[in-house]
Amino acid sequence: MTQTITVIRGDGIGPEIMDATLRVLDKMNLGLKYEEADAGLMALEKHGELLPQATLDSIAKNGVALKSPLTTPVGEGFTSINVTLRKKFDLYANVRPAKSFPNTKSRFASGVDLITIRENTEGLYIGEGQSVSEDGQSAISVSKVTRKGAERIVRYAFELAKKTGRKKVTLVHKANILKSTSGLFLKTGREVAQEYPGIECNEMIVDNTCMQLVMRPEQFDVIVTTNLFGDILSDLCAGLVGGLGLAPGANIGEKAAIFEAVHGSAPDIAGKGIANPCALLLGAAQMLDHLAMPEQAERLRRAIVATLEARDNLTPDLGGEGTTSSFAEAIASRL
Ligand code: NAI
Ligand code: MG
Repeated sequence: MTQTITVIRGDGIGPEIMDATLRVLDKMNLGLKYEEADAGLMALEKHGELLPQATLDSIAKNGVALKSPLTTPVGEGFTSINVTLRKKFDLYANVRPAKSFPNTKSRFASGVDLITIRENTEGLYIGEGQSVSEDGQSAISVSKVTRKGAERIVRYAFELAKKTGRKKVTLVHKANILKSTSGLFLKTGREVAQEYPGIECNEMIVDNTCMQLVMRPEQFDVIVTTNLFGDILSDLCAGLVGGLGLAPGANIGEKAAIFEAVHGSAPDIAGKGIANPCALLLGAAQMLDHLAMPEQAERLRRAIVATLEARDNLTPDLGGEGTTSSFAEAIASRL
């Protein structure tokens, strides 16, 4: 049966990097079908809503989406579309790999090869219970962690480590201060770790983790943590290996999965044709893994790495003079 993918072209640089990505995928003759669906500012202008029902129906039907960044308008009345999608489809695992690339300017020329697994459906990040007092002098935001949520994300991390031959899982927390929420996460995580005697498990407090990541990133293999910590740490990790233009992310649930770039819609460079398409392309490689096409995923990653190594038509964020489309062509030619 032909797999159909819901394709969301998104806002800002979204359509540019999606065109480039689909051109590369087309060269691979994967036999995939694409179904376009709207979301974000573009959908608001076209349909009067940020996340039309037709888009939700398409993702529910296909179970797999490739998504460009979306702009959530700042101001009241708009909840983040990404958070809504993650909650709607219960995409509890946010998987963000960070690996050093050859010939790519970054803090570490080599030695970084880690995956951040971020809980994606609860915790402070989802913005539950937000309110500001009438006099504007105080504000509240609620953080809720559940045993079920902690258990399934830590199990996901260990299962991924097992499947991919990774050796160590680090539980990142702040249980010394946030004794209830982070405490429950850590306690549950320790219990799950017991089921995986073949995989080393250690614990680290989140502020120390930041310092350790910057000083000695090679000590990390798989990091698993709660939503907000994962949001921040995964951008830090992207910075270790060359920036947001190279950082993909997968949002995985039982019934659906959405693959994307970690970065946003980059309004400062939108329409200029210079956005780096690699993050979305690497997201597409994660999608191919998810679709049980690991050889094709590797083939795509190898072409990306070879193009970076040759510094062929790299976009300006990587110090090159290429464009989104010439970079994509350079990758496609190496498939
Ligand atoms: P951003 O990630 O869009 O941009 C941060 C900086 O990185 C900018 O200087 C931008 O030019 C650069 N950059 C990002 N992606 C790049 C690429 N592929 N190639 C070259 N340079 C790149 O973050 P910002 O400016 O904070 O957010 C802009 C908008 O994106 C906001 O409306 C935000 O809500 C949205 N956003 C959406 C996300 C998503 O849909 N997954 C994730 C993060 C932000
Ligand atoms: Mg983020």
